Amino acid sequence: MEEKRKVKRDEVNPMGYYESEHTKNVRDWKEVFDFLIKDPTFLPASPELEDDEMRTLSNQWPENPPQFREVCQEYARELEKLGYKLLELIALSLGLPSNRFNGYFEDQLSRMRLNHYPPCPCPELALGVGRHKDAGALTIVTQDDVGGLQVKRKSDGVWVPVKPTSNALVINVGDIIQVWSNDAYESVEHRVVVNSERERFSIPIFFFPSHYVMVKPLEELVNEGNPPKYKPYNFGKFIAARNRSNFKKLEVQNIQISDFKII
Ligand code: OGA
Ligand code: NI
Repeated sequence: MEEKRKVKRDEVNPMGYYESEHTKNVRDWKEVFDFLIKDPTFLPASPELEDDEMRTLSNQWPENPPQFREVCQEYARELEKLGYKLLELIALSLGLPSNRFNGYFEDQLSRMRLNHYPPCPCPELALGVGRHKDAGALTIVTQDDVGGLQVKRKSDGVWVPVKPTSNALVINVGDIIQVWSNDAYESVEHRVVVNSERERFSIPIFFFPSHYVMVKPLEELVNEGNPPKYKPYNFGKFIAARNRSNFKKLEVQNIQISDFKII
């Protein structure tokens, strides 16, 4: 706890240790440690469109355990390579050149998260992470053998467990792939349930593009018969709005891609 406290996140720097994140205004039963793949990176200071002030995001590393930083960074480097490979395959699957998405990640805001879900005395009253969709392009999750991750099956709304498989990774399509592909791909709704017996660890990496990327359906994929389903939105402003709502409980729902949907 002593070491965690030294790298605790605050309202200015959302990287480091944090134990009271909210998903959709409900506190999650978890603690997290977040770090950026590119350190430092820049982000709009506020979600207000007319405010062009920028903020520097930088990592906070604990001194203990001493090898922690190096291990995290080495793992992140390997997962970053895998992320690019998957993005290339998704581009090909949409009939696009394999490198179609690469330019969006030049100043990527991608981050890795270490999740720890402690045992919960009343697991039926809490969630490790409330239901949500990941805001980035793609998420790759490593989970231990405890289980708890569930995805919502669209046909009947049933929550289906994602069974831990050793040496396997879980890949989530995020909101941005949904928008880029104009709904050809759909971002998956998921949540994490907790249990009273065992703590659980998971390590997602969230692939986030550069802050100045305007996220919108790709021009090559839209036409008269398939018009764009979303208005363009600035990714940095979107994340700035999310950071605000993750830090404290707000009265309103946080920003969603459905806010940009053209009906
Ligand atoms: C998340 C998430 C899943 C897990 O952190 O966004 O969905 O298995 N985590 O911990
Ligand atoms: Ni998630």
